[in-house]
Amino acid sequence: MNLSNDLIIKAAKGQKVERTPVWLMRQAGRILPEYRKIRNSLSGFKELVETPHLAAEVTIQPVDILDVDAAIIFSDILVVPDAMGLSYEMIEKKGPLFRNTIQKEKDLNSIKIPDIEDNLSYVFDAIKITKKELNGRVPLIGFAGAPWTIFSYMTEGQGSKTFSKAKKLLYQNPKLSHDLLNKITETTILYLKCQIKSGVDMVQIFDSWAGILNKEQYLEFGMKYVKRICNAIDEVPITVFSKGAYFALSDMANLNCNTIGLDWNMDIENAKNIFGNTKTLQGNLDPCALYSDFKTIEDKTNLMLNKFGNSRHIANLGHGLYPDINPDNVKCFINAVKAYHKNN
Ligand code: CP3
Repeated sequence: MNLSNDLIIKAAKGQKVERTPVWLMRQAGRILPEYRKIRNSLSGFKELVETPHLAAEVTIQPVDILDVDAAIIFSDILVVPDAMGLSYEMIEKKGPLFRNTIQKEKDLNSIKIPDIEDNLSYVFDAIKITKKELNGRVPLIGFAGAPWTIFSYMTEGQGSKTFSKAKKLLYQNPKLSHDLLNKITETTILYLKCQIKSGVDMVQIFDSWAGILNKEQYLEFGMKYVKRICNAIDEVPITVFSKGAYFALSDMANLNCNTIGLDWNMDIENAKNIFGNTKTLQGNLDPCALYSDFKTIEDKTNLMLNKFGNSRHIANLGHGLYPDINPDNVKCFINAVKAYHKNN
């Protein structure tokens, strides 16, 4: 299907665009009252994720309400461990919880590379419905967690400031760690390929916990597997977002991906020096900047756009939106990006 707005795809491929495209991580849900209304009518987060027509509806909400240049399929990175046999619960106001975790070889034996089409059919159905309803208005982004980030949840069992249980396993049992990372990687490749087959126009790999490893560990337990995923996928543009991994940016220049996501701690000029014209950069306004007044949001957005320049950039935040950010301020950021080229 032809896309009437393909700015993001063009920017990812390094083609000329008439203005910088913009979307937001965690744009679906959270900040939107329209999302909460649907969410509150259900038993919980999982029911929404697993009900394709509703997942499609909340995927499209930010396109209608915020006028972003892409939709991202409403789901979660944790559907992958769920399909592998380690089910999660989403605890209200707390976040994900795995009642069982992977600690020993015997735990790993219960983890399988699943029949993806069967186990995650609800995601693929949601993608198909979304594509149909979007009707080419904007591209649809698919996603998965990076193996290291999924490993963190499967071993830690929940969110953590330190992820020390996950890191302990890397030190105490590197063999078991690699065995688990391998299984996650194989599953993720199959999963992303099925998303692409169902219609997504590009994919993003979220390595949200990259920054808790040091460089040596990230190269061995993180990037190595991201690299394998990138090498396995050539159907659509890929974005790799390794939050906190400023120490690995120069190694990421070798990844077979189109776009590198920058978090708000990463220096734009430094990244531009590293990647030159070989990669598109995505990011990286501090989400907390959206707590300020409209004038400050516009100034900060313009400053960011000046630094990135007019090509090979996809405007975004440096991480996901926080739930208490006012949608009007989000809209101010989006409008500032769209107005930029007219003024410059
Ligand atoms: O708009 C979008 O970005 C699409 C949907 C999306 C969700 N989760 C929906 C969601 C995406 C891309 C994710 C990815 C995700 N999930 C990541 C990687 C991105 C990142 O933020 O680093 C991670 C680490 C998770 C795991 C996860 N899911 C956590 C830690 C939590 C609880 C805390 C939180 O962020 O709210 C979730 C829940 C979740 N996933 C919500 C949404 C809309 C809020 C749940 C709700 O509605 O009750």
